[in-house]
Amino acid sequence: MKQWYKNRKKDHFYQLAKKNDVISRAYYKLEEIDKKYQIIKNSSQVLDIGCCPGGWTQYILNKNKNQSVVGVDILPMEKELGKNFTFYNLDLNEYDEISSLFISKEYCFDVIISDIAPNTSGNQFLDQANSYNLSLLSYQFIKNFLKKGGSFLVKNFQGEDTEALFKEVKSQFKKASYVKPNASDKKSKEIYILGLEKK
Ligand SMILES: C[S@@+](CC[C@H](N)C(=O)[O-])C[C@H]1O[C@@H](n2cnc3c(N)ncnc32)[C@H](O)[C@@H]1O
Repeated sequence: MKQWYKNRKKDHFYQLAKKNDVISRAYYKLEEIDKKYQIIKNSSQVLDIGCCPGGWTQYILNKNKNQSVVGVDILPMEKELGKNFTFYNLDLNEYDEISSLFISKEYCFDVIISDIAPNTSGNQFLDQANSYNLSLLSYQFIKNFLKKGGSFLVKNFQGEDTEALFKEVKSQFKKASYVKPNASDKKSKEIYILGLEKK
């Protein structure tokens, strides 16, 4: 058995997810962030970018079944998450295509969350550059598809571009902060940027 897999099996949040029939341990990252910052309110319309396998969406729908979630991922969605979840199996790099689709659907969200992550190569600089591109593409959605007063949460692999992304977010929201939830592996470079109250 690979060491990574052995460590993962011992991981507290992995075990909690297994015990509670939760789709992915990422569920607990969003739960912790939401408990602290209350980003998911009753009847929120949420865009979940990079939503597979579905832990974040599951958290939102568990919190209130009346919320509606639109999810986008390059991978297919294996779990059925009910009538309030609409899934688009699309590559975020096809931003213009997704944008036209969203305009035709007249989507306007209260919250946009993105846990999007590239496949890692082991080359830290390449992984960070790919992560930055995906985080920046996620950020593009706030311009046309996030309501005034809405919230935005995006993952990024910390690197030399992270501060630039943070500044971008800060310019569009009344409050912005870095968040590293307990369920996020301490050794991992991942960090979340949170924007509250879109201007
Ligand atoms: C860490 S996972 C998200 C976990 C999810 N938040 C959950 O709670 O289950 C990152 C996701 O980003 C997706 N992703 C990576 N590159 C993508 C791209 N170019 N377009 C759309 N999705 C992408 C991956 O397929 C993967 O499902």
